[in-house]
Amino acid sequence: MNSITLIRPDDWHLHVRDGEVLNDIIPHTAARFGRAIIMPNLKPPITTMEQAVAYQQRIQAAVPNGIHFTPLMTLYLTDNMRASEIAAAKQSGIVHAVKYYPAGATTNSDAGVTDLKKTYAALESLQQHGMPLLIHGEVTTPEIDVFDREAVFIDSVLQPLLKDFPELKVVLEHITTAQAVDFIQSTSKNIAATITPQHLLFNRNDIFKGGIRPHYYCLPILKREQHREALVKAATSGNPKFFLGTDSAPHSQTAKQNACGCAGIYSAHAAIELYAEAFEKNNALDKLEGFASVYGADYYQLPLNPDKITLIKEPWQIPQHYQFGNNTLIPLKAGEMMQWKLT
Ligand code: NCD
Ligand code: ZN
Repeated sequence: MNSITLIRPDDWHLHVRDGEVLNDIIPHTAARFGRAIIMPNLKPPITTMEQAVAYQQRIQAAVPNGIHFTPLMTLYLTDNMRASEIAAAKQSGIVHAVKYYPAGATTNSDAGVTDLKKTYAALESLQQHGMPLLIHGEVTTPEIDVFDREAVFIDSVLQPLLKDFPELKVVLEHITTAQAVDFIQSTSKNIAATITPQHLLFNRNDIFKGGIRPHYYCLPILKREQHREALVKAATSGNPKFFLGTDSAPHSQTAKQNACGCAGIYSAHAAIELYAEAFEKNNALDKLEGFASVYGADYYQLPLNPDKITLIKEPWQIPQHYQFGNNTLIPLKAGEMMQWKLT
């Protein structure tokens, strides 16, 4: 196959930061995707409707002329989020989900939830309004091994939560393990998951190939090969519970190449091309459109994008770096060749 045409895809999990860097990175996502669910983990986080509306306008201002791209906003769940904020969010049509970060789990999550019980009024309201709760599914207990944090979260936090809120729409974000795949497959249809390109293409050996490679470090961290294989199987299965969410998470080169480097992989520059590569390797290009362009929209009860994109088989080289405000950004597969190109 030398070309693939897809209904324009959406990115159901994206970090774009704020300020002048928006101009450097938004064009990458806007060239490929019709919409993206924008993560609220700014400093300070986006916790109110007013903040979400203003942030959406700043993102929109960075979309190049003539391109249609809609940022779908989210609110950051805190211990004291009011149920009324969620009702207002639902009414707005601007905010499409609420994000739950266990406090301290990842980049900019200090303001996250310390005890889920404190958020039960907000969760009740989410359940009632049919608005998805997006979960960063890792426990933060320091004694738990970093490679086990997702599996332990599913058993110790997620299962009990779903018992208390059986109708709640939940997206387990950026899943990385066979346990998460099994869990999603076994649950009812209100529970779904996103999968990133890095977790389909790489395993934990890639972090340590010939030395320590900070640009392969993200959270949840890359896992063993057997988990990557389980994720590929899920993504290419045609099961609508699994859909695209890049978790593209830009950090400056200096913040990454540091004695204490930040977690986050930047993939927006070649996101759909990377997924095409992963699907092609598994002879499943015919399953890409459902995963990238249909299942997520259906889950969020939004119409499919009206237009299409085309990828052609034509080698191109990923730049060594991109501009990132007054710093630089090292993209995933910097300097390497891609086989699929967006036309
Ligand atoms: C994300 C970021 O940098 O904001 N980092 C990451 O490794 N994925 C936060 C997150 O989604 O965990
Ligand atoms: Zn993320």
